[in-house]
Amino acid sequence: MSWWKHGVVYQIYPRSFHDASGDGTGDLAGICEKLDYLAWLGIDAIWLSPVFPSPMRDFGYDVQNYVDIDPLFGTLEDFDRLVAEAHRRDIRVVLDLVMNHTSDLHPWFQDSRHRRNGRDDWYMWSDGIRGPLGRRRPPNNWRAAFGGPAWTWDPERGQYYLHLFLPEQPDLNWRHPAVEHAMFRQAEFWLDRGADGFRLDVINYIVKDAALRSNPYRLHRTFPRRHDQQNHLRDRNQPETHDILKRFRSLLDRYGATMAVGEIYPNEGVMEPAVSATYLGNGTDELHLAFDFSLLARPFSAVRYRRALETWYQAIPGSGWPCHVLSNHDKSRAMTRVCRGSIGRARILAAMLLLQRGTPFLYYGEEIGMQDSRLRRTELQDPLGRKYWPLFPGRDPARTPMQWNGRTNAGFCLPGTRPWLPVHESAARGCSVEAQRDDPESLLAWYRFLIQLRKTRPELTRGDLEFLPSHRDVLAWTRRVGGSSSIIILNFSETMRPSPHEGPDLRGLEVRITHG
Ligand code: NOJ
Repeated sequence: MSWWKHGVVYQIYPRSFHDASGDGTGDLAGICEKLDYLAWLGIDAIWLSPVFPSPMRDFGYDVQNYVDIDPLFGTLEDFDRLVAEAHRRDIRVVLDLVMNHTSDLHPWFQDSRHRRNGRDDWYMWSDGIRGPLGRRRPPNNWRAAFGGPAWTWDPERGQYYLHLFLPEQPDLNWRHPAVEHAMFRQAEFWLDRGADGFRLDVINYIVKDAALRSNPYRLHRTFPRRHDQQNHLRDRNQPETHDILKRFRSLLDRYGATMAVGEIYPNEGVMEPAVSATYLGNGTDELHLAFDFSLLARPFSAVRYRRALETWYQAIPGSGWPCHVLSNHDKSRAMTRVCRGSIGRARILAAMLLLQRGTPFLYYGEEIGMQDSRLRRTELQDPLGRKYWPLFPGRDPARTPMQWNGRTNAGFCLPGTRPWLPVHESAARGCSVEAQRDDPESLLAWYRFLIQLRKTRPELTRGDLEFLPSHRDVLAWTRRVGGSSSIIILNFSETMRPSPHEGPDLRGLEVRITHG
C-alpha cells in the first residue's frame, strides 16, 4: 500500500514551527531539529506551506521564485539536509506548489507586463470594456476571494490583469501552453531534489472561462461571503483543469512514489464534496488526494459529522482514496472552533480523524491541543485580518508559534527574541510538547497512541468502513480486513448514551475501541 494511503500527513506552517536562526521566524533548520519529535509522534510525511522566495504579501503564497528557498527559511542546502534527514527517519517531504498565481514581483509577471521574452500572454490581461459614458471598466464582474474586484488596471501595460486573490498575486494564463511547461519544470526541480510530492494550492482555480464571461449573481447573507454576491461558475472548476492534472499526474508517476493533494477551494462558500471528488479523476489518473473541507464546516455533532463523512465517501470514485482534515493554516483551529478548549472533545475528534478510512492530515500543534490566539489589531500580520478586523481577525490566530515547552517563547525561539506572532499563553499551562510528552493521559499521548494503532492494526488503514446505527450523539463504525476488525464508538455528548454494540452505556465523551 502506498505511503500516502496508509500514512499520516503533518502540516507545518514553517514560519511558526521552530526558529533555529534566532530571528523570531521559524525556518528549515528549525524543522530539521524537530524531526526526532515528528518521528516519535509517528507521522509519515510533512507538508510545508510555501518556503520559496516571496515578498510575503500573502506569507509565501505569493511566489517570486519557484526554484529557491526564501532566506528567511534558509538555503537550498538546508532543504537538501531536511530531505535527507526526514528520509532517514522514513518521513516524506511534501511541498506547497502555488500554480494559480505568482507574486507580481516574479520575473514572469515583470516580463509579461512589459511584453518581453515572449511572455506577453502568460498572465490574464484584458483591455476591459467601455461603459455607457465611455469609461473603461473590467471585462467582467469577477470578485477576488479576498474581497474586491478581481481585476486591477496596470498603467505600465495599459491593461487590466486578473488576480483571484490579492492584487499582488496575478493569475497565470493556463490556456497558454508555455505556462504549463514552465510550471511543470519548477515541480521537477523539487522532485529531482528529493521532494515526495505537492500540496497544490487552489488547484480548481487555475483555468478560467475562455470568453471571460461574468459570473451569475447569487445572494449571500453571511460574512465573509457577503462581499461576494456571485456564483463562481466561470472563474473556478473549468473542465480543462482535468486535462492539466492528468498531465501533471503523468509527470509525478515518472518519479515513482510521489503524491499530489489538491486544495479544492469551495465555490460560493459551500462545501461540495462531489466537486472535490472530480479532481481524483478515475482514481488513478489525476490527483492522488483532494481535500474536502466539510468537516471544518460542521459543529461538534455525531450526526452532522456522519452525514459529511458519508457524503464524502459516496462522492469518491471506486478506486479513489479519501483524506480528512480538521484544521489548517486558513481556518480557526478545531480545538477552538468546535472543541471550545475541551480536551475530551479533542480526543473524540482525534479518534474520528485518525480511525476513519483515508489519509488524515494533522495541523501542527493539533496534537497538543493548541488553540487560536486572540490578537490585537497591531499584532496582525495577515492581509485578510488587517482588512476585515474586527469583523474577522484573519488567519493569524491559527498560525501562532508551536508550543514546545512552558518557558519564555515556548521554546519556539530564544527567550530574548521576539516571535513573529505572539505565543499563546496556554503554553505555560500545560499546552506544550514538554508538558505532555511523558503524561500518558495527555492529548499528545492520545494522538501518538492512535497513530501507532494505525500502524499495528491493518484494518485501520486498509480495511472497509461501515457505520453502525446508533443514538444521534454517538458515531460508531467498524473497520475490517481479512480476519482483523475494530469497532470504534464515540460519544459526542457529555452525558451517558446507549452503546450501539455490546457493552455498557457510554460515559460522557467516551471513546471505545474494541478489536476483533
Ligand atoms: C489558499 C491558501 O491555503 C491560502 O493560505 C492562500 O492565501 C490562498 N490559497 C492564496 O494562495
